[in-house]
Amino acid sequence: MAPRVLVTAALPYANGSIHLGHMLEFVQTDVYVRARKLAGDDVIFMWADDTHGTPIQLRAMREGISPEALIERAYQEHVEVFDDFAIGYDIFHSTHSPENRKHAEHIFNTMDAKGDISSRSVAQFYCPVDTMFLPDRFVKGTCPKCDAADQYGDNCESCGTTYEPTELKTPYCAVCHDKGTHTVPEVRDSEHLFVPLDRHKEFLLGWLGEEGATSGTAIQASVRNYLLNWVEDLKDWDISREAPYFGFEIPGHPGKFFYVWFDAPIGYIAATDKWCADNGKDFDAYWKTDRSQAEIVHVIGKDIVYFHALFWPAMLHAAGYTTPSRIQVHGWLTVNGEKMSKSRGTFILARTYLEHLPPEYLRYYFAAKLSSSQDDFNLDLEDFVARVNADLVNKAANLASRCTKFLTGKLDGAVAEIPEDARAMLEEAEAKLAKVPGLYREFESASALRVAMEIAEAANVYLTEQEPWKLVKSDPERARAILSVGIHASKLVAAVLSPVIPSWGEKLQRIFQLDAPVNFENAKDRLPAGHVLGTYEALAERIDAKVIETIMEASKEDLQATSAASQHDYEVPGLADEIKIDAFLPMDLRVGEVLTAEAVEGSDKLLKFTVNLGPLGTRTIFSGIKPSYGEDASLVGRHVVVLANLKPRKMRFGVSEGMILASGAADDDCTLLELDVERSKPGERIT
Ligand code: MSP
Ligand code: ZN
Repeated sequence: MAPRVLVTAALPYANGSIHLGHMLEFVQTDVYVRARKLAGDDVIFMWADDTHGTPIQLRAMREGISPEALIERAYQEHVEVFDDFAIGYDIFHSTHSPENRKHAEHIFNTMDAKGDISSRSVAQFYCPVDTMFLPDRFVKGTCPKCDAADQYGDNCESCGTTYEPTELKTPYCAVCHDKGTHTVPEVRDSEHLFVPLDRHKEFLLGWLGEEGATSGTAIQASVRNYLLNWVEDLKDWDISREAPYFGFEIPGHPGKFFYVWFDAPIGYIAATDKWCADNGKDFDAYWKTDRSQAEIVHVIGKDIVYFHALFWPAMLHAAGYTTPSRIQVHGWLTVNGEKMSKSRGTFILARTYLEHLPPEYLRYYFAAKLSSSQDDFNLDLEDFVARVNADLVNKAANLASRCTKFLTGKLDGAVAEIPEDARAMLEEAEAKLAKVPGLYREFESASALRVAMEIAEAANVYLTEQEPWKLVKSDPERARAILSVGIHASKLVAAVLSPVIPSWGEKLQRIFQLDAPVNFENAKDRLPAGHVLGTYEALAERIDAKVIETIMEASKEDLQATSAASQHDYEVPGLADEIKIDAFLPMDLRVGEVLTAEAVEGSDKLLKFTVNLGPLGTRTIFSGIKPSYGEDASLVGRHVVVLANLKPRKMRFGVSEGMILASGAADDDCTLLELDVERSKPGERIT
């Protein structure tokens, strides 16, 4: 086993709030790290915000702030959530840092020198309406592999394949799409830089390990299988993007920037560099050594396997850094059996959860159901309440609580030696505990926590059978001995729970007046006869099922308040920059009388309007308000505000000759600007 262990969770994007899907991963990682630290391993948890790329840049633009200000704000918000969730990272850094720039440049230059970078002209989508090259995520279309509709230009969320945006079937501009317009992007040429991955095919095959072979890399068999398929079809990886792009400019290539996925994982290295500098540790001992010396473990979701298990090891190998020893992939979080949904109130932000419940309960539920498999994880909110109440409250806390309270209340708080008739039960419990560090090390936290519950259950059964409460008068020393069994078992339970609920062990240390926090080793030490306990403090309290309703309601409200911040990066309204009147005057706004408003076949969003602009004649205008209005016959006759001198725009369904103004952030939640029919004349100028 390597002397040093470095663990990472995926770096959250800095343009959105942390939700429970993210937390599943971060809790899984944290439990793993804490358990290994508790077992005495030399482990560090290196982590950061992922700050680069187009969505962040555009979001900042829409909010009228700099990308730097945006990522700074996200950083503060993220760190607060993680700290409140008791995530025990050693550093949470940023990919927009000098360390990350240094390593990104170094890795690029090293690869370049070795012939691992090539360049060629690329036909790229360009949106004539937005007058810019469209980054991958701003083109959508049908997946070339599985035919799933509305997939992003970089990879398919349905089948996991990655591809070039130009490979999409029926591409359209996502920026325009979100404004209710269908624009088929043009193809234009620009020079791009690539990593020819097939040069590393042999390395990757070895690193992945053929079926059954020992490569030294731990990857779940199911994941390895699809990776091995992907290795058969390695494409050159495009790592450059055109300005404007928020990221690092590529050395020697002015106007070109590293694609966010090039420098994002380098953030793991940058975080380590910063942490080592701050703590007087040896950076090279982690990233410039071999796997017998440093064990690098990445915990990720199944959507980003390609990046972590093909691109990343190839890059590290090419540039001479330590390659990962383990890629641990988890599944997708569903809530109540379905994909998280904003309208159902199951898209729950981590902060919203924390406003209503303590972090320990969700940490427990996640860990109690997580295994090393990459199956999706269902957070059933009713089951969550039931499970926490049954396990933590009724089994684990109850055991410690009744024994402590009885001993301190009736028997001066002193414990006795473990009686003969409980030894076998406790020895079995200790034998089970011995397996727990290994279970955590294999990401089998569900099995580990089952051990805790089995120990608590066995001890509770023993107490119920022996009924020490009835013996206080007749045989107080026998009662003391029986209750001491519950105390000892509680220590064993606490050791198992500690990585999941760090506060449990801390509280137990105070309650039992222990010299040190409970760990896997010292949990087995018996308290000497006569040791006096302190006062009980609540370890877990019953959750009232009503809180679920409250959390879901609050989540629906969040959605409105944050305007879907993390999803639609270009819709977030902020006050735009101040303008002078001469910037407004060129807009020719007119009163338009609605003559017809019809649904457009093949479009869920558009209504086709004909409007009377009086002396300016009649216009056809497509407007993406169908989700709000449907086919509403009462639209006819209304007076609306029309931007009359907007350049006519050719759309899939015809030419749109203007724009009808509406307010509201979302297509399904907007209202038309209307004028009093009695007092306005069609065609009249609005100033
Ligand atoms: N920034 C990239 C990762 C770069 S790592 C060098 C990214 N960020 S993310 O914020 O979208 O996701 C962070 C992690 O959370 C990913 O591993 C992702 O799989 C995970 N999850 C995000 N939503 C999730 C669920 N609904 N369920 C489970 N995990 C989810 O990807
Ligand atoms: Zn566009």
